Amino acid sequence: MARNPASISPTAHYTGYTWFAHGLSHPALVTPQGRLMHTALRPLHGLAAWTGAPTLEAFLLARHKLIDLLLDQAIAEGRVSQVIEVAAGLSPRGWRFKQKHGGRLRYIECDLPDMAARKRHLIEQAGLISQGHEVLPLNALADTGPLSLSNLAEGLDATQGTAIITEGLLNYFDTPTVQGMWARFAAVLQRFPNGLYLSDLHLGNINRGLGIQAFKALLSTFVKGQVFLHFNHEQEAETELRRAGFAMAKLHHPRHFAAQLHLSMQPGTDAVRVVEARTSRAE
Ligand SMILES: C[S@@+](CC[C@H](N)C(=O)[O-])C[C@H]1O[C@@H](n2cnc3c(N)ncnc32)[C@H](O)[C@@H]1O
Repeated sequence: MARNPASISPTAHYTGYTWFAHGLSHPALVTPQGRLMHTALRPLHGLAAWTGAPTLEAFLLARHKLIDLLLDQAIAEGRVSQVIEVAAGLSPRGWRFKQKHGGRLRYIECDLPDMAARKRHLIEQAGLISQGHEVLPLNALADTGPLSLSNLAEGLDATQGTAIITEGLLNYFDTPTVQGMWARFAAVLQRFPNGLYLSDLHLGNINRGLGIQAFKALLSTFVKGQVFLHFNHEQEAETELRRAGFAMAKLHHPRHFAAQLHLSMQPGTDAVRVVEARTSRAE
């Protein structure tokens, strides 16, 4: 589905501010739009927290920290030394991971051309960019051409394990579009000795409660369009990932990592799962 990217991009400003507000980001990645949106939503967030309704922040932090953890593990185990973060928006992950892993890790952040240019400008101006850290334009929906993932992957080292990350992207697209993306990601990752795909995903069956429905309506208004819940259960999504070309696929529940990640398990944390899919079965 050809979703108007202008309707999704504002949320990147909001999440960008969220990462900063929780000590995960750098002030250079805060934009006036992000700060404004965060301030505007604060009363609603306070009300949700007070009434025990799910909050945006709860699942945003759960997904972000769990993706970090799984990526860190893959790097520590020597499975990954190159990362392509698709739709990175104003996320600080590239900067944080380069700070931690330095020259051992190549990190390519991508987004649609306007957002990629803005991100590059922000991190270059603040001196946050280092060797092996790039910000490039990419369209996750392109099969071929200069903005395609396939084209970008040509520039990577085919002997190195590689990860693709999407965070906060999938639920803005309908099921056939997501299936197409997953097939594209699996095909590109199969070029490398180890391929890892990490993403957040919201499932249908866990997002039926009244609070969640209100929250989904809010999010839909926020992004000026429908939010899609493609699969009802973990197994359905795992089957679909294997169909797309991954050898192994698992949807992780944040609850199982609550202690490790210091998650408060506030209402809303349960609303998200994190996809871990690999192109090689080797551990
Ligand atoms: C909700 S934001 C998430 C940003 C970041 N990953 C985060 O979690 O803070 C969604 C991002 O997807 C990007 N985007 C939308 N359509 C895209 C596409 N077809 N290809 C690549 N990026 C896209 C938007 O520009 C925006 O930066």
